[in-house]
Amino acid sequence: MSSSERSSDDPIVKAFDADSILAGNFALGIDHEKIERETDELLARMTLAQKINEIRGTQPTPIEGLYYAGGDESLGLAPWKMVDGPRGARSGTATAFPVAIARAATFDADLERRVGQAIGLEVAARGGNVLLAPTINLLRHPGWGRAQETYSEDPHHTGVMGLAFVCGAQNHVLTSPKHFALNNLENTRFDLSSEIDARTLHEVYLPHFKRCVVEGGAASVMSAYNKVNAVYCGENPELLDEILRGDWDFRGFVESDWFLGTRSTAPSLNAGMDLEMPAGFRYSDENLEEALASGELFEEVIHRSARRSVYQKLAWQLGDESVAGKKRPDVSVVECDEHVSLAREAAEKSIVLLKNQGDVLPLEIAATQSIAVVGDLADAANLGDRGSSMVTPTSVSKPLQAIQEAAAGVRVEHFPSHADFSRLAEFDVTIVVAGLTYLDEGEFIPTAQKEAEDSDLARGGDRAELVLPLPQRDVIERASARAKKLVVVLQGGSAIVVREWVDRVDALLMSWYGGQDGGRALASMLFGEVSPSGRLPVTIPREQAQFMPWDVTSLRVDHDLYPGYRWLDHEGHEPEYPFGFGLSYTTFEVKALRVERSGDAFVCRVDVCNTGARPGATVIQLYVGCTESAIPRAKKELKGFGRVALDPGAEATLEMTVQDDDLRFYDADSKSWKLEDCRYGIRVGQSSLDLPLEANYQRAGGGWRAV
Ligand code: BGC
Repeated sequence: MSSSERSSDDPIVKAFDADSILAGNFALGIDHEKIERETDELLARMTLAQKINEIRGTQPTPIEGLYYAGGDESLGLAPWKMVDGPRGARSGTATAFPVAIARAATFDADLERRVGQAIGLEVAARGGNVLLAPTINLLRHPGWGRAQETYSEDPHHTGVMGLAFVCGAQNHVLTSPKHFALNNLENTRFDLSSEIDARTLHEVYLPHFKRCVVEGGAASVMSAYNKVNAVYCGENPELLDEILRGDWDFRGFVESDWFLGTRSTAPSLNAGMDLEMPAGFRYSDENLEEALASGELFEEVIHRSARRSVYQKLAWQLGDESVAGKKRPDVSVVECDEHVSLAREAAEKSIVLLKNQGDVLPLEIAATQSIAVVGDLADAANLGDRGSSMVTPTSVSKPLQAIQEAAAGVRVEHFPSHADFSRLAEFDVTIVVAGLTYLDEGEFIPTAQKEAEDSDLARGGDRAELVLPLPQRDVIERASARAKKLVVVLQGGSAIVVREWVDRVDALLMSWYGGQDGGRALASMLFGEVSPSGRLPVTIPREQAQFMPWDVTSLRVDHDLYPGYRWLDHEGHEPEYPFGFGLSYTTFEVKALRVERSGDAFVCRVDVCNTGARPGATVIQLYVGCTESAIPRAKKELKGFGRVALDPGAEATLEMTVQDDDLRFYDADSKSWKLEDCRYGIRVGQSSLDLPLEANYQRAGGGWRAV
């Protein structure tokens, strides 16, 4: 059907519905003029000691997961109670959602808003008022140990998902996007310098922080451990003062990352790092007195930081047992049915089908007599990192048990990793669950590292190699030698190089760390109850060398305009699986791209049709590339995406809007955003390397012309 033949009854799906994403975000309803006045009145009554109390945490270890800061009963000021983190509330038990990179694979901003809202509500129910999330450090290299906590290698995608999370969570509590900025190598995070030029910083590594602050009204920001251009982030005036407050009008407070996130007293406060967490080491009475006496620090600076904290306390109507004008919710919201189903929905939408040779999936129960489930991870609660983002649910659905439940009547046998696999040939199908755990990747905690050897403590850190650890590869190799049909399910928090063995498997699924209902979500995918709809938020290269050099011991990381798929495009490498890629049990056609100018934007519409036999969802992606540009540019950049769910034969129109502002480059000389006169190619399709539709526009003399 051509565009003119489209029925006007076909639904129009908006790729990004700002009104519903922003809805209920408490920060956006604050009457700033009134709060400014009230804050000044209160500050005028505060002594220096009371102000100092507002700029540091109370004790180094959390109480029931809550880190306290400030608060003074005599002034009617409640303390901050901060709780991690990006995949759920780290306080007591809580709903364990799939990790952020899994949710990123859903490309579903509304889902991310709902997840943020659920985590915010559970944090409030546990007595917290600041959620130490989302993590939005761009995934410069997939070997980063904390890749699972963030969203992707693309700033637009990270910006949309981060904004959605912030808006959802700020229905209930303050958020704290972190770690500002350029925190993307874990092992050396306390000493590392991220080197970057102004254009790359503004165009690639900061836009997602800007969205969370400017559009989402994020009430606080956590600074990072590392240095940027040789200056620690916690005492970096360019980041904290010039950009965050100057350019973006940030009204919140900046808290340090924990312990080693504050490196100095006067330089940190002068730069605008308002609140030392988890306690006052650098901001101790003694250090502050000394800095004041030496003239390195003025009382006005302490006043300024205390004021930022107090401002947010008044704005958020903070009480001991209330925040955002609401009383502490009943603890029954924690792991309530609604949140567990939301975790399940996120897990289902996050699983990426990477290979399905001969349509081996979905498995038809009626036609299957026996299934071998292989690997220790099949019977493990593998929820990901055990550093600060760890969440403890009361129960976890594991793959083995979920497969057994879903395949009632079928013979299902488990083969642990070290079992003899010679009998696998007896089984109709073999499902190997392999991948990574918190021991292979995650937050790096040096003290725990030493004690960790055989214990359950956090270890993690970066992955020097993107291939699976040898024992995991060995399980796949041995199973592939025997299995009749082999399905491999990978668990992990980032890209895993699969080249060595992927040609010997029939089907391959990336299931990430799927949260507490991940096992059941996987089973529903394997048996076809749900069609896979996740898409890769990170490129899977054929070999590690397709990415930029990666040294996990490095004390310096050089940044350029080309993270992720931009790098492979730039170098002319073809990945194993591109950014945005994922298969389905059905097929989709995307057609009839119509582009119109509307104000200062392009409104782009495409028709999407489910051309297969099963219901399913796809993710339509829009990229823009410039030709004839006078400056270095990535070949293409993601500028829009939207999920469309359709029954077989059904069709919908997806609308994606690209603002002229989204096409600007940062001109470091004038410190301003400029729209270059050149040719802009808009390309639309179903992955970064499957973009069949194209429209080209020439910008010249302040106007646009289709070419
Ligand atoms: C992490 C932060 C976390 C904080 C508090 C730090 O080590 O880098 O992401 O929020 O600890 O647990």
